[in-house]
Amino acid sequence: MAKITYTTHDDQTFEVEGEEGSTVMETAIKNAVPGIEAECGGACACATCHVYVAQEWMDKVGAPEPMEEDMLDFAYDVRPTSRLSCQIRVSPDLDGLKVEVPERQG
Ligand code: FES
Repeated sequence: MAKITYTTHDDQTFEVEGEEGSTVMETAIKNAVPGIEAECGGACACATCHVYVAQEWMDKVGAPEPMEEDMLDFAYDVRPTSRLSCQIRVSPDLDGLKVEVPERQG
């Protein structure tokens, strides 16, 4: 398990437990975190699970694979900390992870 904190664009905070092996997107959906749509169900084919990883977590989370980078081009308001949350796997290393949900998807 890993604690993950999601902050929405209007400053609502959701602190939830992510199961090892699931993704940051699946954890958000399971806990009804608003603003993550995940239209493709985690296939890296929609970019509607876009989040901003907190700066201090960027190293641990790592860089996107080329396929994810291509999909990120379709996301709204992409920043250097942007990731697709379906491509971030929950692990004990990510205990305490903080991500921000953008104002809108797509
Ligand atoms: Fe579609 Fe992440 S859920 S790209």
